[in-house]
Amino acid sequence: MGELMGGHKKGKHKDKKHKKSKGSTGKDTDRAYDDGACQVTKERVRAHFLDGNTGPWAKNLAAEEAKNAQPAGAAAAAGNGSSESGLPTRRGPDYSVPSSIDLVADPVLHALSTRRSISKVDPETPNDADLLELIRSISSVADHKGLRPWRFLIIRGDDRHRLGEALDEAGGVRRKPGEVNQKPLRAELLLALVASPTKHEKVPEWEQHATAAGAGHLLELALWQAGWGVMWRSGTLANSEPVRRLHRLKDSELLMGWFYIGAVPERYRQRLATSTRPLPSPEQFLDTL
Ligand SMILES: Cc1cc2nc3c(=O)[nH]c(=O)nc-3n(C[C@H](O)[C@H](O)[C@H](O)COP(=O)(O)O)c2cc1C
Repeated sequence: MGELMGGHKKGKHKDKKHKKSKGSTGKDTDRAYDDGACQVTKERVRAHFLDGNTGPWAKNLAAEEAKNAQPAGAAAAAGNGSSESGLPTRRGPDYSVPSSIDLVADPVLHALSTRRSISKVDPETPNDADLLELIRSISSVADHKGLRPWRFLIIRGDDRHRLGEALDEAGGVRRKPGEVNQKPLRAELLLALVASPTKHEKVPEWEQHATAAGAGHLLELALWQAGWGVMWRSGTLANSEPVRRLHRLKDSELLMGWFYIGAVPERYRQRLATSTRPLPSPEQFLDTL
């Protein structure tokens, strides 16, 4: 872990991102949300959702309001301990009680139903601490017998060139000196998803692949909700020998593709704010025996 954090400048990307795409609040925005101002902020988030702002933008607007409304020290007095699970001890919503199913007003359902892949992302990326928090949030993925059959590998900087070389080798592509495979350079940060099943008498391999795929989908959602752009890509060479070798996969493992991650470009943000892409009709996904 020390190595992971040390490899990249902690906080650099996030600060930049806040400056560019999230207003001037930076880390303070997050703090207002964390420091026990949760209930107030959630109400405000809801209000901004109803005003038509998508998830991360509504959250930031609400956090800024909460920060301005709180006298100094009041947030700290509200308590900010953390439990063994790593989550703050403050109470969140009570998910055990059925509520009306409202795809606009409910932030989680709203994020689920509005998620989009962002095919071309800007260079700012979450830092490694951000990634760990996102991974923490998705580690709730349904997992038969808790085998944890998935992991992600961080690919940044020159490692993307190594991926390009492995893809070229797999595809039999020869390039002129100085030319490189541009595909892995489409984002500054790639996360490779590895399905890593173990032998278990009650949990077949396909179930463990399903869990790994679930982690991938949750990651996309978590990134979306946190305001980052991402697109999941694979390709026919993902499990070719040179590519598997680069990722140091065991024979039992499967590369499920790469998540290309970065900031959402301004032009996308404008489009997303006004987008009315219809969702497919749900009847086709639901039937009886
Ligand atoms: C496992 C997996 C692999 C994918 N691989 C690719 C890919 O290699 N190239 C691509 O253009 N889209 C790929 N996609 C699809 C995109 O990630 C994305 O879902 C699609 O463009 C539809 O956009 P949307 O997510 O906004 O609905 C893949 C999706 C999944 C789940």
